[in-house]
Amino acid sequence: MKHSSNDKLWQGRSSGDVADITVEIGQSIDLDIKLYREDIQGSRAHARMLQKIGVLDQAELDQILEGLSTVEGEIAARQMPLRWDLEDIHTHVENRLIELIGEPARKLHTARSRNDQIAVDTHLYVKKKSQELRFGILDLCRDLLAQAEKNIDVTIPAYTHLQVAQPARLAHPLMAHFWSFFRDAERLAFALDQADRLPLGSGACLGVNYDTDREFLRQELKFGSIYENSMDAVASRDHILNFLYATSVFAVHASRIAEEIILWCSVEFSFLKLPDSVTTGSSIMPQKKNPDLAELIRGKAGRLNGNLISLMTSVKGLPLAYNRDLQEDRQPLLDSAYQAELILKALRAMVQGMEFQDQNMKSSLEKGYATATDLADALVWQKKIPFREAHHAVGKLVALCEEDGVPLTRVSADRRSQAHPAFADDDFYTNAVDPTTSADRKVSQGGTARFRIEEQMQEAHRKLEEAG
Ligand code: ARG
Repeated sequence: MKHSSNDKLWQGRSSGDVADITVEIGQSIDLDIKLYREDIQGSRAHARMLQKIGVLDQAELDQILEGLSTVEGEIAARQMPLRWDLEDIHTHVENRLIELIGEPARKLHTARSRNDQIAVDTHLYVKKKSQELRFGILDLCRDLLAQAEKNIDVTIPAYTHLQVAQPARLAHPLMAHFWSFFRDAERLAFALDQADRLPLGSGACLGVNYDTDREFLRQELKFGSIYENSMDAVASRDHILNFLYATSVFAVHASRIAEEIILWCSVEFSFLKLPDSVTTGSSIMPQKKNPDLAELIRGKAGRLNGNLISLMTSVKGLPLAYNRDLQEDRQPLLDSAYQAELILKALRAMVQGMEFQDQNMKSSLEKGYATATDLADALVWQKKIPFREAHHAVGKLVALCEEDGVPLTRVSADRRSQAHPAFADDDFYTNAVDPTTSADRKVSQGGTARFRIEEQMQEAHRKLEEAG
């Protein structure tokens, strides 16, 4: 099928027919239909500005504004047929407006280009989505903080190399995730701030042949500032890259807690139970309860990272100013925005429903001899034994425990004194190997002692309040 160039808005110069592939590879409407609100918002502001500088009269402006509302309603009701030959959202809106109100609509494109139109659409969209996601992530932080507060007296092994290291209060790893998500919220605030610049009014790339009022546009569209340079305004995509980076890091953080959820739900760990509503069964194995949401989150992190690299690569090496390559920004932007929202909702549902199994944590602490370091340190501090000797004595005791199949907390005094005579002292020994006492010995700032965790939780509350 050939398309006559005469029904295209960029008709004029060309006279021949347009090949199917030109239409098919060039359309972006299947994606940028999602930007219709921002596009119409930009057109309203532009129309008001044209009236202000005398290009439109009041009656024409009124007709355009009313027509734009009709178009917006039609798109919202999914009544607008999408036509590849009309390429993008800008042309769909303008074309429909012409059908509805005729002549005045033909004046709307005065002093603007689709290049500055798409730029303003994506700036508005990045601002909106950064704000929504930022608030959502702050809510996730609140969920984590609530779980931390609830579980401050539960003791869990901390791991290095995925081997039991030392006992922690469960609030501690939960708050570790809190802080990384809190920084994601800060990154989104930065993305919002950088997108808070008006590109509209830059025309195709060098400005327009009219004395337009960009300050008026800035106020109408509520931007904090105006791009200083029209070429930069239509050619740059770092406002989107910031958003993709922020959502990508968020997804990576989400994948890390997701991985812990997956591990903790396994029979081998059994630290955690998730509510049925956020797990799935197997079609063949009746006993299964799978943490699919966590696995999907872990998988989606790859997809979001891909979106970031995709646009980085499209923009790399592009000469100034606008190039059609830039149309490839839509797919990563829209996809990452939606996927980040899904990740957030799924993660919040899981975090809110977490039920911890402290007995199993306790037995892992025992099996992992999690307080071995504490025992060595106690020998140093209380019995004045050199650390090398202490380390050796505890190593010997652990080997004996392994032989007998008992944890450090249940080995007899006789057996203990075979490793070191000082271990015969009951009070000294029991106190040294108790997991909760061990956690509370980590009194350095940012450590896992109860009062230190309370300190960081207080700071967390303060920061959440400040963040709004
Ligand atoms: N559909 C284009 C985009 O989304 C709009 C700008 C087209 N400009 C052009 N000169 N063909 O980027």
